[in-house]
Amino acid sequence: KPEAPPPPLAFNGTKLVNDAAHPWKPLRKGDQRGPCPGLNTLASHGYLPRNGIITPAQLLNAVQEGYNAETILARRFTYAAILADGNLVTNLLSIGQKSPLTGPDPDAPATIGGLVNHGPFEGDASMTRNDAFFGDNFSFNETLWEELVDTANKFGAGKYNYTVAGELRYRRIQDSIANNPTFEFRNNRYFAAYTETLLTANLFLDGRSTDGQLDLKDARSFFADMRMPDDFHRAPRPLAAEGTDYIVNLHPFSPGYNKDGVNSFTLDPESASWTNDPMGCKLYKWYVEQVVVPAYPEPKGVLKRNLNLNLQYYYDTFAGCEQLFPYGKP
Ligand code: HEM
Ligand code: MG
Repeated sequence: KPEAPPPPLAFNGTKLVNDAAHPWKPLRKGDQRGPCPGLNTLASHGYLPRNGIITPAQLLNAVQEGYNAETILARRFTYAAILADGNLVTNLLSIGQKSPLTGPDPDAPATIGGLVNHGPFEGDASMTRNDAFFGDNFSFNETLWEELVDTANKFGAGKYNYTVAGELRYRRIQDSIANNPTFEFRNNRYFAAYTETLLTANLFLDGRSTDGQLDLKDARSFFADMRMPDDFHRAPRPLAAEGTDYIVNLHPFSPGYNKDGVNSFTLDPESASWTNDPMGCKLYKWYVEQVVVPAYPEPKGVLKRNLNLNLQYYYDTFAGCEQLFPYGKP
C-alpha cells in the first residue's frame, strides 16, 4: 500500500548535502536517468536509489533532504509523476525510461513510461533537453546549454538568476514555436516550464549564497554531470517557485500550441494559466480528467485503491479547490 507522504523536514535550514554519506558515483549499466536534472543528481548521490527506480515517499524525502524543496510543490510534482508515469500497483516510478524494474504493467491504455514519457509531465521548450519531436527528450544537450550560457552572458553578467530564468524561458518558447511543428505549451507543461527555470535559481544555488547568482560551472554540474558541486549546501529554507511573478511579468505569455506546423502558435483559452488559474483548480481538474482517467478508465482492486490514494495525495496540494472523485468516494 502506498505510504502517506512524509512530513516536511524537522530541521529545514541549510547544511552540507554533498557529504561523505552521499558520494557521487558514475552510472552503472542500466541505471535510469531522465529529463530532470534535480532527480538525476539525487540518484547519482544516493539520496534516491542509484538505479533510478523509486517510490513517491523516497522521492519526497530526497528532494526535501537533498535540496530543501518546499513540501507542497514537491508533493504536487511527485504525485503528478507517479499518477502519469509510474506503476500504481507496485508503487514504483522510473526517473528515466520505461523499465521492467517497475514490475508488471497494469492494462493499457496506461503506459507506465517513466519520466521521459512525453505529454503529461515531460514537455516542450525545456532549457537543456530537446523537444520530443526531435527525438531524445531527456539527455543533456550541448547546443541548448550554449543557449543558456548566451542568455546568462546577455542578461546575468555570466551568472544564472531570475532575470536569466525569465529571458531563457521566453527564448525557448520562441525556439519551439519556430522549429517544432508539434509544439505544445498548455496546462501542466505551461506551469512546470516556468517553475523549473526557478527551481534552478532557487535550489541549485548554494544555501550559503546571499546574492541570488548561480555560477554556470555549478549549474552545469547539475544539468550535465548529475553532480552536486564540492561542498554543496542545500537551500537556507524550503524553496520552490519563488520568483514566479517576476518572470511571468517579464514576458507575459499565454498557453497554446502550434496548430498547423511551425509558426502557427494558437492560444488556448481553455488551458489553465497563471492569470486564469491562480489557485491551480483548473490544472488539478485537467490532470485528473485528461491525464489520469483516460489512462485508467475502469480500474479494479488494488489498482483502484492506489489510484484513489495517490489522487488524494495529489489533491491535498490544491487547497481550496473542489475535490474530484472519478472512481467514486473511497
Ligand atoms: C524538469 C520531474 C523535482 C529541477 C523535470 C521534468 C520532469 C521532472 C518530468 C521534465 C520536464 C521538461 O523539462 O520537459 C520532477 C519531479 C520532481 C522534481 C517528479 C519531484 C519533486 C525537482 C527539483 C529540482 C528539479 C527538486 C531542483 C532541485 C528540474 C529542472 C528541470 C526539471 C531544472 C528542467 C530541465 C530543463 O529544462 O532542461 N522535472 N522534478 N526538479 N526539473 Fe524536476
Ligand atoms: Mg522537456
